[in-house]
Amino acid sequence: MTLADRVREAVGAVTDPELRRPIGDLDMLREITVDGEHADVGIALTIVGCPAADRIESDVRRAAASVAGIAEVTVDVGVMTPTERKALTEKLRAGRPARQMPFGPDSLTRVILVSSGKGGVGKSTVTANLAVALAAQGLAVGLVDADVHGFSIPGLLGIPAGTQPTRIDDLMLPPVAHGVKTISIGMFLTGGEAVVAWRGPMLHRAVQQFLTDVYFGDLDVLLIDMPPGTGDIAISIGQILPHAEVLVVTTPQAAASDVAIRSGLVARQTGQRVIGVVENMAAFTLPDGTVVDLFGSGGGAEVAAALSVPTAGADQAAEVPLLASIPLSPALRTGGDSGVPVVLGDPEDAAAQAIQSLADTLAHQGRGLAGRSLPMSLS
Ligand SMILES: Nc1ncnc2c1ncn2[C@@H]1O[C@H](COP(=O)(O)OP(=O)(O)OP(=O)(O)O)[C@@H](O)[C@H]1O
Ligand SMILES: [Mg+2]
Repeated sequence: MTLADRVREAVGAVTDPELRRPIGDLDMLREITVDGEHADVGIALTIVGCPAADRIESDVRRAAASVAGIAEVTVDVGVMTPTERKALTEKLRAGRPARQMPFGPDSLTRVILVSSGKGGVGKSTVTANLAVALAAQGLAVGLVDADVHGFSIPGLLGIPAGTQPTRIDDLMLPPVAHGVKTISIGMFLTGGEAVVAWRGPMLHRAVQQFLTDVYFGDLDVLLIDMPPGTGDIAISIGQILPHAEVLVVTTPQAAASDVAIRSGLVARQTGQRVIGVVENMAAFTLPDGTVVDLFGSGGGAEVAAALSVPTAGADQAAEVPLLASIPLSPALRTGGDSGVPVVLGDPEDAAAQAIQSLADTLAHQGRGLAGRSLPMSLS
């Protein structure tokens, strides 16, 4: 092996922070020459002004300099030609044709929708924390903010306003926050756009596009933060992802349970499987031991019990468990406000622990084929 080969090997192992693959595999290396102790390394980035450019350049410089015998490194940063880029997007799609949604029934990714009947019960907060907790366990996690009218995921994960997915031709690379590949309609709005006016077909197209054109790579879990209720988006997602699993979030309040139950039943009608109920804003304990149940108690168990009753026509036999009861917690709220989810920022907090244990439960469940009708063919 020549010195130049060793430099090529070291540099090729640098990972692209957005694509999360070694740049050698992504054909981003160009000419590499060594003159004495000086290495001259050519790399080709996907697009001009790629946000990851500085990081790749410094990682490449460090990798080259780490090779024994190299004392000085020059990095020439170029841009891929349209042909090179096309080859790259084809490689990333791994043979899957453009415009095909990768999360169909054959996919190995678990798709979990987080939905609720009522708004404001903490879906987004729970989803953001759950995603981060799962990623912290080493799972490859994607998060789609499907709340087109009330997107909140970028803020909850501390993604700066104005952050946009990087585009490589027609592929979009989701920003990565706390280890979670995240996409939200909020990233496509340039201020003051009238999303309010979006109706069924436009919403359907937006969601379809998220799921098709965003390059998530191989994910273990894709979480989808749903808007409240059972409106157009829920129906579209029901059509696009009929095999998805659903977590129903509710508060402990009896009045919230009815709508939560209904949202679970509607999801089930599209073929989705309700895998559990999450009760949020449950009682918390003051330092002196006093228990404060601001929103009452028992709502989560009630929703779980109601959704465990088999419904005609739906093939769900399994019981729907109450998977978590998350207490009211100032730290959970402030973590959301500051963009550092409480499971990372204050893992000892009672709400953080409840979400952590929810993540552990889900992570150990596998894909959960039980109770699901598998497509059968006799040909
Ligand atoms: N367990 C909790 N303790 C304290 N505050 C909470 C808790 N859960 C959520 N919150 C706060 O409640 C508010 C609503 O939460 P969030 O936005 O996550 O709800 P949502 O169900 O996603 O709402 P929407 O229906 O509008 O999408 C937020 O300000 C959040 O910080
Ligand atoms: Mg929300």
